[in-house]
Amino acid sequence: MRILSGIQPSGSLHLGNFFGMMKKMIEYQEQEELFCFIANYHAMTSLSDGKVLAKGTLEAAANFLALGLDPEKSIFWVQSDVPEVQELAWILSNFTPMGLLERCHSYKDKVAQGIKPNHGLFAYPVLMAADILLYQSDKVPVGKDQKQHLEVARDIAIKYNNEYGDVFTLPEPDIDDDLATIPGLDGRKMSKSYGNTIELFLEEKALRKQVMRIVTDPTPVEEPKNPETCNIFQIYRLFLDENGVAELRRRYETPGLRYGDVKQELFETIRDFFAPYAEKRKELLDNPDEIRKILAAGADKARYVALKTLRKARKKGGLIY
Ligand code: ADP
Ligand code: TRP
Repeated sequence: MRILSGIQPSGSLHLGNFFGMMKKMIEYQEQEELFCFIANYHAMTSLSDGKVLAKGTLEAAANFLALGLDPEKSIFWVQSDVPEVQELAWILSNFTPMGLLERCHSYKDKVAQGIKPNHGLFAYPVLMAADILLYQSDKVPVGKDQKQHLEVARDIAIKYNNEYGDVFTLPEPDIDDDLATIPGLDGRKMSKSYGNTIELFLEEKALRKQVMRIVTDPTPVEEPKNPETCNIFQIYRLFLDENGVAELRRRYETPGLRYGDVKQELFETIRDFFAPYAEKRKELLDNPDEIRKILAAGADKARYVALKTLRKARKKGGLIY
């Protein structure tokens, strides 16, 4: 089974990215054929500073590698290092009804936020479809927010295949209900755009400050508390096994629990959990040429697969004459 997903190199990594997508991707490399890339073309829809994008790309690569992505066991590359994806995006554009894109929530949300819509933002899901279809992906692990984009990719593939026969594998979304939406400090989806994130690689003081900002209800200390509606619990449970969750739940239900104490524990847990990865990440970032080498080798492998699909699509469309 071929698993593919991408992550944009914009902004720093948070727990939502890690638990919603990266952790699962890294686990897949053990049993499945894993394709993982850094979606730098997509990041251009929200980022125009080239220096920031270039730096973010190296950092995103270092993040994945530090967290355990193994370039020997997977194909790991930067989207723009296989620019053929743009050609497929153009081909697919001709199978993409306007209405399909006009209905996309993420586009509508961005416009509602006051972002001036341009063609890049509008066509974003077509490029994402090209990412997925170019590599004949079976399964695409993403957070719930990307579900509609996957439906668009499938719709485009179906339309194309109806015209030309089975050129593209129809991708399935891989969304873990339990992890579909990791809540942020305020209980809304953890997201850079809400400013409610807990970041993975922060200095101790800054991390503690973020954890202490988790919003809690005003239940007095001497009363039992409801873990299900508590933002601290919902984040803490990500780090615990079944017994750990049961034990924490029991503490919530017993009078006397102080939210401040649980926050302190959670801060220490996050700090200790990511400390070894942070060290590895620093080592990698101190040697950017090493990262570039790994990415270049990954792009070669990815391109080999991409060209096979693209050749078919060029032929079907009459681009080979
Ligand atoms: P953000 O919302 O902070 O901008 P991205 O859109 O860059 O995050 O998300 C990158 C990946 O991480 C995507 O696959 C996305 O679905 C996943 N992801 C992001 N935030 C969450 C979350 N709160 N819960 C689950 N998955 C998430
Ligand atoms: N749009 C995705 C996000 O913001 C990133 C992405 C680009 C992607 N191309 C993809 C994810 C293909 C999965 C498959 O998170």
